[in-house]
Amino acid sequence: MFVCICNQVTDKQICRAVNEGASSIEDLSNELNLGTCCGKCKSCAKKVMREAIQQNAYSEAIPAGFSPALAPA
Ligand code: FES
Repeated sequence: MFVCICNQVTDKQICRAVNEGASSIEDLSNELNLGTCCGKCKSCAKKVMREAIQQNAYSEAIPAGFSPALAPA
């Protein structure tokens, strides 16, 4: 989905930028030009960025190959 219509920035591009180290709207602006025109996308971009950061934190907390079905009860 497009988050920044003015600069055609998608949620996937934001997630990729977060995976590569972006952690602020300023980072996304520098990297993707997000929010550099009308700026109306910034609140939605913050939400997408926060979700991507949480997803990364969750992924890092779960060891590779972990399966809840195989975990001891
Ligand atoms: S929608 Fe992002 S700058 Fe306008």
